[in-house]
Amino acid sequence: MLLRCVGGLAGITALTPTALLTACKDNAAAGTKREGAGHYGLENGPFDVDIRLRARPDTVPILPGTPSEVWRYTAELRNGPADTITPVGDSYTGPLIRLRRGQRFHARLENSLPEDTTVHWHGLHVPPDVDGQPRLPIKPDEAMTVAFDVRDRAGLYWYHPHPHGPDGGRVGFQSYAGLAGPLVIEDEAERALGLPAGDQEMILVLQDRRFAGDNELTYIGSGMGTMMTRMRGFLGDRILVNGQPDSAREVATRPYRLRILNGSNSRIYKLAWSDGRPMTVLGTDGGLLAAPRQYPFVALAPAQRIDLWVDLSANDPGDELRLLSDSYQAGMMDNMMAGGMMGSGMMGGADLPAGTRVPLLALRVTRRERGKERLPERLAEDLQTPPVERDTPLRRFKLGMVMMRGFAINGRRFEGATVADHEIVPLGHTEVWEFVNDSMMPHPMHVHGLQFAVVGREQIGGRRGWSGLAAGLVDSGLHDTVLVLPGERVRVALTFADFEGLYLYHCHNMEHEDNGMMRYYRVRS
Ligand code: C2O
Ligand code: CU
Ligand code: CU
Repeated sequence: MLLRCVGGLAGITALTPTALLTACKDNAAAGTKREGAGHYGLENGPFDVDIRLRARPDTVPILPGTPSEVWRYTAELRNGPADTITPVGDSYTGPLIRLRRGQRFHARLENSLPEDTTVHWHGLHVPPDVDGQPRLPIKPDEAMTVAFDVRDRAGLYWYHPHPHGPDGGRVGFQSYAGLAGPLVIEDEAERALGLPAGDQEMILVLQDRRFAGDNELTYIGSGMGTMMTRMRGFLGDRILVNGQPDSAREVATRPYRLRILNGSNSRIYKLAWSDGRPMTVLGTDGGLLAAPRQYPFVALAPAQRIDLWVDLSANDPGDELRLLSDSYQAGMMDNMMAGGMMGSGMMGGADLPAGTRVPLLALRVTRRERGKERLPERLAEDLQTPPVERDTPLRRFKLGMVMMRGFAINGRRFEGATVADHEIVPLGHTEVWEFVNDSMMPHPMHVHGLQFAVVGREQIGGRRGWSGLAAGLVDSGLHDTVLVLPGERVRVALTFADFEGLYLYHCHNMEHEDNGMMRYYRVRS
C-alpha cells in the first residue's frame, strides 16, 4: 500500500488522488509523531506568534453530494493575536495566516501525510533553511519547527508544499490535493490608508479542479493524456474559489477590497468585471503599488496575487456584479488540445472552450450603506524597487525544453542543490535577470526569497496566440512571479539581501516545475 503512495510520478499519474488518498489514509493515521526533522531559523524566543500547522488527509464537502477526499492544512494558534488564524471557506483551503511586519514567527510543521512534504512561505524574505525547500523534507509522521522574523511589506503571500523526489516534484500533486493557504502581512503604513477591511476585505483563492463520478478529485489521466498534461500543465473544468463552486457574497453599496491568489496548477486567469468596468489594481505579489492603476482586465498566472478595489456605491440593491474569467485565444498546443479530438477529460484537462466567460464570484448588492472609504490617490510611500544602473550585471535565463525529457532553464533541468557557475550571485547586490521564452508555452517565473521589479518586457517573436493576455499584464509594483509569454523577453531587477545560501527559482506552472523547470541559485558573500 505504502509503495503506491510514495512511488514516483509515473506510478501516481494512473491513479486519481482519491484512490491514492484512500490507499494512504490508514497508514497516515497509524503513525506516531516524531520531531525528526529538526529546528531551523531563530533559536531564541520569545516569539510573537506561535502556530502549529499540520498537513493531513481529510474528507470535505466541495460539490453538492458526496464529500471529497483531500489533503489539507489545519492550524492551531499556540501563542499570538487571536486573529492570526482564520478559516477560508469551509472546504479544503488552508487557513488564512495573518502576520504583522516585525513579528517573530514560530511554527511547528507536522506531516501527517503518507509521503514527504515541506511548507514553503511563497514570497517571503526568509533565510534559506526555513523556506520549505525540497532539500529539507519533513518525513511522514515527523515534525519540523521553523522560526523567522516577518520582514516583508504588507501584502498577500501564501504557503504550499515544495517536495521533490528522485522521480520528480510533488508540488503539483500535493497542492492539487488541497495543500495551499493564504498568508497576509499587515503593517502600519497600510493600516493608515484605511482600505476596506472586515467583511469588506475578501481573500479569494482561485483553483481549477476536475471531478470524477462521486466527486472524486482527478489529477492527471493516463497514457497520452499524461504526456500532454505534463507538457501543458493540469487544467480543470471547474473553477473553485476558496475550495467551493458557485461563490457568491452579499455586499452593500460600498467599496470592497478583493485580494486574489491564483493557487491553480497551471491555469492563467483573465479576470474581468461582468459590467465591463476596468479593474482597479491596488497591489501585486509584493504589496501595494505607489498609486492605484486601472487595467481593462488582469492576467493572473499561477502563484501570482492581485489586490483589487471595487466600488459598489453607484450600484443599487438587486444588482449583481460578477468577477469573470474570460477564456482567451491560447497557444497552438492549447488549441490542439481544446479541439474535439483531444478535448476529452481523458486528456487530463483541455481548456475551457474559447469565448467562455466563467463566473468566479458573484457580488450581490443587498443593502444600501454609505461608507467613508475613498480610493486613496497614493498608496505606498515605501515602495522601493531595486536600483538599476547602466552597469548593473545582467544574467540571461533561456526557458525551453530538453528533447523528450521535459523543461529546462538554460538547458539544464533540476539537479537538486547543484548550482552552475551562472547561478551564483553576490550577497547584497542588485542584478537584472532576463527570462527569454522561445518555447511554445507561457512560463510564470518565480524567484524565492525576494521581491523583484519588472524593468523590461519585449516581444522578440510571436506570442503564438497568447497575445490576448498582454494588455492585462500588471508589471508595476513588486513581484515574486512574472509571466513570460511565448516570444517574450522579460527583465526583472532583484537584490539579494541579508541571507546567504541556496534558494530556488523556477516556473510556477506546477507541472513544469515538477518536471524539471526548477533550479537552485546560491547567494554568496
Ligand atoms: Cu510557490 Cu517555489 O514556490
Ligand atoms: Cu516560492
Ligand atoms: Cu513553465
